[in-house]
Amino acid sequence: MKERIEYLVNLLNEANYNYYVLDNPTITDQEYDKYLKELEKLEDEYPEYKSDASPTQRVGGQVISKFEKVKHDKPMLSLPDVFNEEEIESFYNKIINAGISPHFVCEQKIDGLSVSLIYKKGILYSAATRGDGTVGENITHNVKTIKNVPLKLRKDIDIEVRGEIFMNKETLNKLNELRAKEGLPLLQNCRNAAAGSIRQLDSKVARERNLDVFIYHLPNPEDYKINTHYEALKFMEELGFKVNTKWNKLVTNLSEIKEYINNLAKERENLQYDIDGVVIKVNELNAQKQLGFTAKYPRWAIAYKFPNEEVYTKLEDIIFTVGRTGQITPNAVLDPVIVMGSTISRATLHNEEYVKMLDLKIGDIVAIHKAGDVIPEVIRPLIERRTGQEKDFEMIKNCPICGSSLVKKDGMVDYFCINDNCPKRNIEVLIHYASKNAMNIEGLGEKVVEDLYNMKYVLNIDDFYHLEKYKEELKLMEGYGKKSINKLLENIENSKNNSLERLLFGLGIPNVGSKTAKIIAKKFNTMDNLINANIDDLINIKDIGQIIAKSIKDYLNNNIDLINRLKNLNINMTYTGEKEKFNEFITNKKFVITGTIDGISRDEIKNFIENNGGITSESVSKKTDVVIVGKDPGSKYDKALSLDIEIYDENKIKEIMQKNE
Ligand code: IVH
Repeated sequence: MKERIEYLVNLLNEANYNYYVLDNPTITDQEYDKYLKELEKLEDEYPEYKSDASPTQRVGGQVISKFEKVKHDKPMLSLPDVFNEEEIESFYNKIINAGISPHFVCEQKIDGLSVSLIYKKGILYSAATRGDGTVGENITHNVKTIKNVPLKLRKDIDIEVRGEIFMNKETLNKLNELRAKEGLPLLQNCRNAAAGSIRQLDSKVARERNLDVFIYHLPNPEDYKINTHYEALKFMEELGFKVNTKWNKLVTNLSEIKEYINNLAKERENLQYDIDGVVIKVNELNAQKQLGFTAKYPRWAIAYKFPNEEVYTKLEDIIFTVGRTGQITPNAVLDPVIVMGSTISRATLHNEEYVKMLDLKIGDIVAIHKAGDVIPEVIRPLIERRTGQEKDFEMIKNCPICGSSLVKKDGMVDYFCINDNCPKRNIEVLIHYASKNAMNIEGLGEKVVEDLYNMKYVLNIDDFYHLEKYKEELKLMEGYGKKSINKLLENIENSKNNSLERLLFGLGIPNVGSKTAKIIAKKFNTMDNLINANIDDLINIKDIGQIIAKSIKDYLNNNIDLINRLKNLNINMTYTGEKEKFNEFITNKKFVITGTIDGISRDEIKNFIENNGGITSESVSKKTDVVIVGKDPGSKYDKALSLDIEIYDENKIKEIMQKNE
């Protein structure tokens, strides 16, 4: 009987392995069930021969009373996230500059939850979650139900491996269909569904959820005389683990890493499971050792996250803010979520039309989206997840601060508070004046400006320059030390010497951003020239149209008193920045840079372009005039070629920059 039981255990484990790991069934489902039944019966009769490797262990139904804590032998680290090509380049260059020239392994970043599996003498002994990295939770009962986690390895060794438990997209869809029928809340995504299944005390749930696993990490390779990560992957595969061989790729340089990412990005939609990026690991283990760890992460691997991540959260409320022009903006108050590495709890909803177009209701689960460095946006409500408790959105009729009636200009979508004495508007004007891209007065943050306004020390821009009068009172205010007051007054005084464009931007002229302010300052040189210029002089400037020109003229006409007061306070009204240079290869052209240029940093190139009257941008479009292409360029290069855009190669840009010196 003992032999028969062992025979059946091996036969069923082998069939399981062929089916779930190799995707190559060797026996029919009926045969499998028949042998399993026989085994169950024999184990019942001869429990003394029942082993931990037996497939009857997978059947589930084991219920635990609580999750036991498990301390990991080696911490289970996560990886630093990076979001763009530059950050990948900098990871790569740091390694190369340290004198190490390793190979790399690129892998799919599976969107699930990590797991540590421990085998003793080749038999699954325990499984644990990552937890806080040091201590996780014992989830052996649930992990045993995952069909491609081997209960018995193909060698009788002691080993720990780590990997990712995940749920297929199709499984999630089926599960949600069922849940919808039963009126249960739907599961948000594959990762949450997998994590939720694993966090069950009753293993029946996990069994029904059809979870899956990929193994990608061997924490103690030296015990098996393994020298590279790629060998470790092969070794684990030979032991019977499901390894993502199809997508684990050994590469030699940066362009191959980029190529892998581009390929995977294209295939992502077609995959049966969710991935959220690419993990890039140094292959040679001695190189990994040399690079070591930071306090939190290994220095030999990074996780590149695909852009355009979409996450879901609850729209708790919609609140309204008043800008310095009086414009009223609805803002989403969100249950905080992490999108592309940063926690988001607010997002602008722009205006009433936008909220109505999206058909948002307060209480909705909404999709949030963030692409690259772009500000996160609410893109849609999940209508299917409405419970009926959601509240309709209603635009306000009065300013939330001063209560005055809001006004909508003809043909425009935005509402405005037009009360010139609205405290919030005035405070916003002052905050803007002192802000970084405007007069750049350190120490005048939002909170300080608000205090100064509320104390009535600063009601108008020029009051900043009379603040000296209140020095003693300020020193007595809570949170304002003597030193910081002196420093603040000094910073305010120094701001008088700023170049004209800072003042122009700081005044908050409608439609005049910092770039436009600079263009105008350079052209007219002094405030007086600008005041004396007529509309046509303004329109004749490239990049300045009718609307901006009119806006500038109107502002100057209406605010001449303020400007004179500032003049009398000796505030510089002349452009003191670099004079416009003309460079036939740069001036008036729009540039995009891709790849690295030996010996010159990207910022140096950008500054050079901007100082010579060129414009830089991040993405290639029909409007791009020139793409500067360095070593290991990204997809921007391909796009430039396809749009037939002029290319400056490494030598050309170096030559242009040198000539200029
Ligand atoms: S390697 C020290 N490889 O992404 C090695 N992780 O922050 C650590 N993940 O916590 C992990 N796919 O949960 C690795 N192919 C892969 C992965 C992967 C998904 C997860 C894992 C980890 C996080 C990285």
